[in-house]
Order: sequence, then C-alpha cells, then structure tokens
Amino acid sequence: MASIELRQVSKIYPGSSAGVKDIDLKIADGEFVIFLGPSGCGKSTLLRSIAGLESITAGDILINGEVVNHVAPRDRNIAVVFQSYALYPHMNVWQNMAFGLRMRGTPADEIDAKVKDAAELLGLTPLMQRRPSALSGGQRQRVALGRAIVRDPQAFLLDEPLSNLDAQLRAEMRLELVRLHRKLGRTTIHVTHDQVEAMTMGDRIFIMKDGRLIQQGPPLEVYANPADTFVAGFLASPPMNLVAGRLLAEGGGLAFVTDGLSLAIPAAYREAYAAWAGKPVIFGLRSEDFHDAPGGETFAPVTLQVEAVEALGPENIVIGRLAGSHKPVAARLSRHFGAQAGETVTLHADLMPMHLFSPDDGKAIPRPRIPDAQTRRRA
Ligand SMILES: Nc1ncnc2c1ncn2[C@@H]1O[C@H](COP(=O)(O)OP(=O)(O)OP(=O)(O)O)[C@@H](O)[C@H]1O
Ligand SMILES: [Mg+2]
Repeated sequence: MASIELRQVSKIYPGSSAGVKDIDLKIADGEFVIFLGPSGCGKSTLLRSIAGLESITAGDILINGEVVNHVAPRDRNIAVVFQSYALYPHMNVWQNMAFGLRMRGTPADEIDAKVKDAAELLGLTPLMQRRPSALSGGQRQRVALGRAIVRDPQAFLLDEPLSNLDAQLRAEMRLELVRLHRKLGRTTIHVTHDQVEAMTMGDRIFIMKDGRLIQQGPPLEVYANPADTFVAGFLASPPMNLVAGRLLAEGGGLAFVTDGLSLAIPAAYREAYAAWAGKPVIFGLRSEDFHDAPGGETFAPVTLQVEAVEALGPENIVIGRLAGSHKPVAARLSRHFGAQAGETVTLHADLMPMHLFSPDDGKAIPRPRIPDAQTRRRA
C-alpha cells in the first residue's frame, strides 16, 4: 500500500522547456485519482516520474513518506500500464502474465498461483493459451492489467489504458477498473482525457495544463466550482458556455450585460461580485442550466437563434447564438424539445449555478458556493 506525495516536482526535458513544473500533490493510501488534461500537458511525464522511469529536474517524490528520487523503478514497486499494452507477441497470455515474476526468480508454484488468481479476477482463464494476436483489444488490455496485478504492486499507474478501445468496451473496462480498485484497494492514478472517465472513476481529479496542476478536488466539486475558464471549458462536453460582457449596477442589484441581453445576478452573489460592477467580465453557464420553461426567481429568459440540434437520443443539444450578440451558446434540453436550425427559441436560464471570470487571467471571481443541482432538486 502506498501514499504518494510530490513536493515542487519539475521535470524539464533536456534541450526544451517542455515537461511538468512545480507540481505539489498528495495522494492518500488506497485513493483512486485521475490526471486529466489536454494532449501534451504533461500527464505521462508526471506518471513516468512517479514510477521512476524519468529522473526529475527538481523537487521530491515521496512514497509512504520516504523520498524516492534516487530509488530505481523496480524498487518503487509501482506498476505502470501503458496505453499501448506492449504484450510479447510470441508468448501466450499465461506467459505474458508470468514473465515479470519469472525474471525475478519467483518460485514456479507461486507464479502459477498468482497468474491463476489474476486471470480469474479478470475473466482471462479461458484464454490462457492464446497469443495476443488472437485477442480483442479489451482482452489484451486485461492481460496488460493482469501482468501488473501479479506483481502485487503498492500502486497502479494507468496511462490512458482505455484509449484504444471502442466505446462499448471502454464503458465495460471503466467499470471493471473501478471494481478492481475496490477489490484490491491499491492506490491508483488513472490518466485520461476522457470526460466520463474523469467524472465517474476517481475520488479526486487533478486537472493539468501546460505542465502545471491547475485544480484538484472531487469531480463534482471541481465541476461545480471551476477555478478558471480553462477548467470550465475543459471539464464537460459541451463545455461551459462562456460569454464576454460587462457587469453593471442596476436598480439596487447587479446585471450581466452583453449586446442585447441583460441578466439579473442572483441576490446571493451581489455582495461577492459588487467590486466588479462597471467592469468587463466573462459570464459562464453550463449547457444543462438552460431549460424549456421558467422555474423560479433565479431563472431568466434567453433568446437563441438555433444553428443546429444534435439529437443524442436521451437529450437534445441545441447549438445557437444569443439573439442580438451572435455569441455561441450550447443548451442541453430534453429529447422532447423540438427546435430546428434557423428557428428562434426562448430558453430559460437558471442563473443560480452561474459563474463570473476575470477577463484578465481567466480566474473565477470568488462567490458563495451553492449546493450542487442534484442536492437542490431533492431539497
Ligand atoms: N522525451 C521527451 N523529450 C522532450 N520532450 C518531451 C519528451 N516526452 C515528452 N515531451 C514533451 O513534454 C510535454 C509533455 O508530454 P507528455 O507526454 O507528458 O504529455 P501528455 O499529457 O501525456 O500528452 P498525451 O495526452 O498526448 O499523452 C509535451 O510538450 C511533449 O512534447
Ligand atoms: Mg500521455
């Protein structure tokens, strides 16, 4: 079992400025965390550094409270599962899973028992004699996991292990990994740039950008309180709607104003936002906070010129532009919401979950937190 801590860790590749910078994080023993971020932000670099496959440029990596900067990868006892499963093509499933143990000189009966256990856990028992070329992507992925499991590591580092799988297998493996974690209780870092994996699999997510850690926390908490416009735009599909405009003092309250539109700021936020009156701000509202009917005093009508409707089955994503300003907006509505490209529709925005961001640095302007929508609806 392992806790993992990074203190001011940087890894800059020689001859470049790319890598990861000043990373501080703590992962508790047994925790399942997600590293999320766009391509090239440094997720793999961080994972490889923790595993000892990269030597870091600065800072300390601690496992169970001990600095392991100079400890060799094999002695860190951490298993890494890569996106490319890297199975040995000439070996069958059993041999692939046993290989690492054999290299370590593990006694044959012990290898046999461990491989059998892992195969059972992963549903690979009927496939033990097959070579990787005769396995599906998901089965290969499970062999790669099995190879990590038999080592009985203190922690699993999974680098986009599901990205080569089709949507259905991905969904199955997602659940399987969570189940596996529950069963084995090992500290796990799962790297992904998949929204659903990020939201559903881990206890906490760590969001990265340009080699830096931008925000960390439980998924729903980060979702409800993005630290900046990057996180707001990254965590969700469609991303949070962000509209540039200005905050105005109006009749004792505040309003966000952009071209033809004026939205009254909920009273609960007036004090927090008061200092921004008269200044340019970026207004943020998630697609699911648009509704097809008014719902209460924090709701405001918004007129949209519809450009496209994506009928996903369970819901319709209505993509359009704010009437009068041409600013793009995506709204997530029920599958019963009938609208067509070219129409003008009035939607009802619930402003309670709104955010304002500074146009200078994109940072969220602090405001009182509200219970998430689920809780509000039940209340
Ligand atoms: N061996 C290397 N030498 C120099 N630069 C590198 C090396 N490996 C990665 N980089 C650079 O470091 C940055 C981070 O790369 P990394 O592979 O960690 O990103 P990532 O978040 O894993 O991306 P992806 O989602 O595409 O896998 C990138 O700019 C990349 O080009
Ligand atoms: Mg990577």
